[in-house]
Amino acid sequence: MHRISILVQDGRSSSVVVAGEGPLLMLLHGFPLDHRLWTGQLESLAAKYQVVCPEFRGFGGSTLEESEYSLEDLAGDVEVVRRHFAPSDPMILAGLSMGGYVAFEYWSRYAANLSQLLLVNTKPSADDETAIAGRLKMAEVARQEGTAIAIHGMVDKLVSKSTNAELRSQAERMMLSTSPAALAAAQVAMSRRRDFVSRLPEIQVPTLVITGDDDPLCPPKATQAWASMLPNAKFQSIADAGHLSPLEKPDEFNALLLNLT
Ligand code: MLT
Repeated sequence: MHRISILVQDGRSSSVVVAGEGPLLMLLHGFPLDHRLWTGQLESLAAKYQVVCPEFRGFGGSTLEESEYSLEDLAGDVEVVRRHFAPSDPMILAGLSMGGYVAFEYWSRYAANLSQLLLVNTKPSADDETAIAGRLKMAEVARQEGTAIAIHGMVDKLVSKSTNAELRSQAERMMLSTSPAALAAAQVAMSRRRDFVSRLPEIQVPTLVITGDDDPLCPPKATQAWASMLPNAKFQSIADAGHLSPLEKPDEFNALLLNLT
């Protein structure tokens, strides 16, 4: 496993953690996380895939040059990373939550570059007014009072009650390492994201939709309902997993990725 920096635009680079060889499997992390979300996948899936985990602007080792960006911009960064690793082959793209929102954007621009899509603990809908207000408030708290106060209590919404204390604190440490500026910029970008619900029937690429039985943000029933609108999708919910299913239940999650057809 190693980390590289890829120039994505005008002197700005994207930090990418890579392991293995084989067909390209790109894993997009959620908010406010980084490539460590995929710790349980990087080595285990490396025997079958070239596993590539880019970090979004401001997260992990990636720099944040502008205070604002859009999720479309992030999809553009993902495409630069894909071209670096597999310029002439389509890839398998997995995105968790915020990573899933970026995966929808990626599909809308670059569907031909996808062989499989994995939409993990995510949803296709845009925010309503209450959700937008909540995000803008968190962005403001982050800017004024810092990351720890902005994310206080958030980890309890992300991991299942049955997840052990070590994994819970691993997730929390990852969240706390996010800078206030990165937190704020991502919240603003997510608050402006597009709604893909009406476009679900157009997604022809084979898709696996995954959530966790204990995910309060993307519960199985609601997730299965939108997954059924995709023409070429399977749905799987992982027992005893919350919103961070690859971190909480790596064996069950990896089995799904090792058995893609
Ligand atoms: C995530 O895990 O990326 C977040 O839950 C996304 C969001 O805030 O909608």
